[in-house]
Amino acid sequence: MKTVQAGILQPVPSQGRYLFFSLPQPAVLHAALVRLAALADGESVVAALGPATVAALGASVPGLREMPDLSGHGVSVPTTPTALWCWLRGSDRGDLVNLTRRLEQAVAPALHLNRAVDAFRHGQGPNGHGRDLTGYEDGTENPKGAAAEAAALVQGAGAGSDGASFVAVQQWLHDFDAFEALGPDEQDNAVGRRRSDNEELEDAPESAHVKRTAQESFEPEAFVLRRSMPWAMSNKAGLMFVAFGRSFDAFEAQMRRMAGHEDGITDALFRFSKPVNGAYFWCPPLRDGRLDLRQLGL
Ligand code: HEM
Repeated sequence: MKTVQAGILQPVPSQGRYLFFSLPQPAVLHAALVRLAALADGESVVAALGPATVAALGASVPGLREMPDLSGHGVSVPTTPTALWCWLRGSDRGDLVNLTRRLEQAVAPALHLNRAVDAFRHGQGPNGHGRDLTGYEDGTENPKGAAAEAAALVQGAGAGSDGASFVAVQQWLHDFDAFEALGPDEQDNAVGRRRSDNEELEDAPESAHVKRTAQESFEPEAFVLRRSMPWAMSNKAGLMFVAFGRSFDAFEAQMRRMAGHEDGITDALFRFSKPVNGAYFWCPPLRDGRLDLRQLGL
């Protein structure tokens, strides 16, 4: 679809950077978003607005809401509402740092950069996708082609809406000591796939991640387009989980089951990783190579 921010459908880049902005001066938001719209081309910068930002303009986007607190059976799944999220995509880390400066300047003083997280592609799994830092290929069961567009994009809602997407972003922090303590077989059982060849393990326990999230097993089926990347900062690292959907429903159904809301069984990933923040955003469509903010009255 021509009006989609192209980076959503493309493979993850070799270098990424995630920017999380707050909204200290809503009174000058309108002008900041006009400047952002010209910089965010949807490919080197995928931009997405939080619900409070849309509300601050007196506008509304059907389906956009804050991420609920999905904490479950002994596991914390925090929600940390954020005004603006930008996913910078490229191949040169220095370019992404410089682009960060340009974006910060463009949206100031309405929006303020609170957090920047560097991310990268790690290796290549048997099916051609990058790997999580634990070594498991991530992205194997993503829908492709028209199915990816059907899962990730708003369609049939009219100009100004079609090509938009709803994105769930969650930063997971890995505990590598806990992961290593499991040993190779338990690690494979936690994911539900064999790290060596990516084969799915039919006899994996119910807590296995790919059993918890099997997209066809939900009613209705819960397909999303995952574009997660490993991140690292100082001595901490993990996965920036990013899922694009035509709504938040599929992500939310998966997350609820992972947190044990359906049957009291929590996803085995929680044995060695945990989400430390999370938020929902609306990715506007594109028009003539820039963000189309018509739906917000801009
Ligand atoms: C530490 C965080 C996470 C890691 C390391 C991780 C890793 C993986 C891996 C290795 C796979 C198997 C390969 C593939 O199909 O991509 C997978 C599958 C999947 N994951 Fe995750 N994941 C994480 C968090 C999440 C979260 C938070 C969700 C959604 C709430 C999620 C949803 C899915 C889905 C839908 C699949 C495909 C399931 C299927 O239909 O077979 N993942 N993940």
